[in-house]
This record gives sequence, C-alpha cells and structure tokens, in this order.
Amino acid sequence: MRAIFKTAIIAAAVSTTLTAAAQHKSKTKSGSKAAKSSALISAATLANGQKVYGQSCITCHMVTGLGVPNMNPPLAGSPFVTGDKTKLIKIVLNGLSEDVEVNGQTYSNNMPSQDYLKDQDIADVLTYVRNNFGNKATAVTASEVKALRGKK
Ligand code: HEC
Repeated sequence: MRAIFKTAIIAAAVSTTLTAAAQHKSKTKSGSKAAKSSALISAATLANGQKVYGQSCITCHMVTGLGVPNMNPPLAGSPFVTGDKTKLIKIVLNGLSEDVEVNGQTYSNNMPSQDYLKDQDIADVLTYVRNNFGNKATAVTASEVKALRGKK
C-alpha cells in the first residue's frame, strides 16, 4: 500500500516536470521563430505597405482590416491573408469574384483586380496585411509577385 502511494507521487512529480519542460520548449521555439520572421521584415517595407493599403485597399477593407459586414470580407484573422501566398498574390493581381467564407461569414461580392500596382508595392502591402490587424505571417517578395503576373 505504502509503496503504491510512493510510486504515485513519483509519477505525478515526473509528469509535472515533463509538462513544464515541454511548455518551456514550445514557448522558446515559437518565441525565437516570431523574432526571426519579424527581423526579416524592415520598417521601410511595413511603412510602404501601409501607404499602399491606404491608397488601394482601405476603402473596402477599412482601416481596421475588418471589412464591411455582408459586403467586403475582413483581412483580420483571415486564412486567405496568412495562408498560401500564391493564392493571396493572385487575389490582388486578378481580383476575386467567387464566394468566399471568412471567419464564418460568406461573401458573394466582387473585388476588382489591383494589377496596376508595382510588384514591390503588392509585395509590401501583402507583407503589411500579413503582419497587421493581429495577423502574423512571413513576408511576400516582389519576385514572388512577378512570377504570378498574367497567371490565372
Ligand atoms: C473595391 C473594393 C475592394 C478593394 C479596393 C480591395 N478589395 Fe479585397 N476584396 C473585396 C471583396 C468584395 C472581396 C470578396 C470577393 C468575393 O466575394 O468574391 C475581397 C477579398 C479579398 C481577399 C480574400 C478574402 C479575405 O478577406 O481574406 C483578400 C486577401 C483581399 N481582398 C485583399 C485585398 C488587398 C490587399 C487589397 C489592396 C491591394 C484589396 N483587397 C482591395 C473588395 C476590395
């Protein structure tokens, strides 16, 4: 009886230690990852991205990135924004006119192509929206945009 009790205490202590170690490890890992990806994004990129956003996106997606209910979908918390870069770049280059579901709401509207923007400006505005409104994702480069121009 006594021995069983002792074993239980030891098992509990070991599992607490292991959990603490695992939590510490995952914290350190995500922390350094975040520091690394933001270190790659310069203040100049984000400043230009914000400027382009103010000229080409803000009227529909709003200053908050929350869009307009039933009309223009939010960029804040959107998996289209933080997800696959190819799809995201194509939305800006080609526009979008298919039903999209963002954060549980379906939008059936029409986004006009923004292909008049330079490669660098599209890259910067996308890097900006991927790292603003509570979003966090890697940068988009001008060469990634260039490679997708004219592709449906
Ligand atoms: C004239 C209004 C308008 C402008 C300007 C506009 N959008 Fe959109 N955007 C929309 C609409 C409407 C949709 C949804 C289209 C649909 O229902 O098929 C959309 C969809 C999107 C999506 C995918 C859905 C989501 O919310 O994540 C992204 C990403 C996006 N826009 C980014 C941008 C960026 C970046 C700019 C500026 C370079 C921009 N848009 C400019 C109206 C606009």
